[in-house]
Amino acid sequence: MSTSRRRFLKTLGATAPALILAKPALAIGHSSTSSTDAFTITSAGTVAVTPFQQALNIPPEAHPVSMDMQGRPIYELTEQNATVEIIPGLQTDIIGYDGMTPGPTIRVNANQEVIVRHINESDIKTTTHLHGGHMPTGNDGHPVDLLEPGTSKDYLYTNKQLPTTLWYHDHAMDATGRNVYSGLAGFYIIEDNYERSLRLPSGRNEIPLVIQDRTFAADGSLIYKNTKSGEKGDTVLVNGTPFPYVQVSNTRYRFRILNGSNARVYKLALSNGAKFIQIGSDGGLLEAPVSRAAMVVAPAERVDVIIDFGDAAIGDQIILKNLAAKGGPTSEIMRFDVTKRRMERSILPTVLRSMERLDPAAAVITRRWEFDFVGGEKPWVINGLPYEENRVDAYPQVGTTEIWELANISKVGHPIHIHDVMWQILDVNGKPPGPHDAGWKDTFKIPPNGTVRVIGRFDDYVGDINDIKSAYMMHCHILEHEDNAMMMQFIVVE
Ligand code: C2O
Ligand code: CU
Ligand code: CU
Repeated sequence: MSTSRRRFLKTLGATAPALILAKPALAIGHSSTSSTDAFTITSAGTVAVTPFQQALNIPPEAHPVSMDMQGRPIYELTEQNATVEIIPGLQTDIIGYDGMTPGPTIRVNANQEVIVRHINESDIKTTTHLHGGHMPTGNDGHPVDLLEPGTSKDYLYTNKQLPTTLWYHDHAMDATGRNVYSGLAGFYIIEDNYERSLRLPSGRNEIPLVIQDRTFAADGSLIYKNTKSGEKGDTVLVNGTPFPYVQVSNTRYRFRILNGSNARVYKLALSNGAKFIQIGSDGGLLEAPVSRAAMVVAPAERVDVIIDFGDAAIGDQIILKNLAAKGGPTSEIMRFDVTKRRMERSILPTVLRSMERLDPAAAVITRRWEFDFVGGEKPWVINGLPYEENRVDAYPQVGTTEIWELANISKVGHPIHIHDVMWQILDVNGKPPGPHDAGWKDTFKIPPNGTVRVIGRFDDYVGDINDIKSAYMMHCHILEHEDNAMMMQFIVVE
């Protein structure tokens, strides 16, 4: 479906002003005094950023540039190489959507079909996957459905699903880890009138937060070590800002938190001992809010939470901590500075959205998938096999319900992600999940030597058994495990 160079040039010509507006300002001539306050250079030659020196970036929201013949809004995102200032006074080369990282946030209504036109102006081949999205085959960003530099593709998103926090990111074969690390990720939020009627915190009180760890060399460049075990950095970025602070009022805020890291698992907690009120997970609202003192969030998982700053005093500074780091630079993530007094306008409902429970008795099949480490060139395998482009491992039938038994027989945890539809966890090592994990999910933490059973229904969108690009993927979301073969594909059939 990639368009020709000619069409690309035409497209580009028609939209040139928008592209220029979308370009981020390149930072120039920062004074060296501010940079010495902002960071030091470690003995290993990497940058150690001083925490809480920079205000949190909030990605801009994208607006449709036009409409297609069917009246569908068309959004445009352009993959670009860019140089940006992430560490004050240093320049970092990235690849970002519209030249920024994270890319612009797309916000749509459930059931409103939209087109997202990706224009690849970068120097790499790209394919874009809308993580958690349920859309017709061919639009899912298959790893080999690549856009060459200088081409573009229209992705059709039907948004026929429950409102939730999705994210789009690169999914290129064998290079997803490097490409996402370079900056190719952004938010995609689906809403509906019911959710708006709940009067959860919104507007300036609703902030998406993507947490990503990176390592920077002394010259500001990104260091990607390209290990097969999973890339971990020593600098935590939130929305592209290292260890930021954000000024908040003494009211409730809704934070849509995404772990967008390649491999790092966080255990989030607040330094004042306050609890998160979790209202949603990967696939949308929970049935009721759940209070949590700490939340373990693996790569690609989303936790939709409310933090109530209503009890805080003006002047309080509350740190979002990562208890999983047990000290060290990644043990703190960002800081909330309570600086303003405001009236509370939101409501914290006791009931959120009722949920259809899938019935295990309705499942037509149980498929078992074993995740293992075998070493060698393609060390990470599923059912003993590394990913192979022309092999399809399952042909679920549209309209049917299946149970998938995700069994980790290796010594490390794997966040396993299934494309296409949302699932419900039946049990983790034989025990039913806690209420925070009982909603719709697309990414599951499979503990070492543990088994998670999930149930899902292949509602619609049939593929073509002769077209590999119509397959959906299942893979580990530690991106270096995915790139090193812990991935399989399935085609939904009639
Ligand atoms: Cu978020 Cu197949 O990926
Ligand atoms: Cu996905
Ligand atoms: Cu893994």
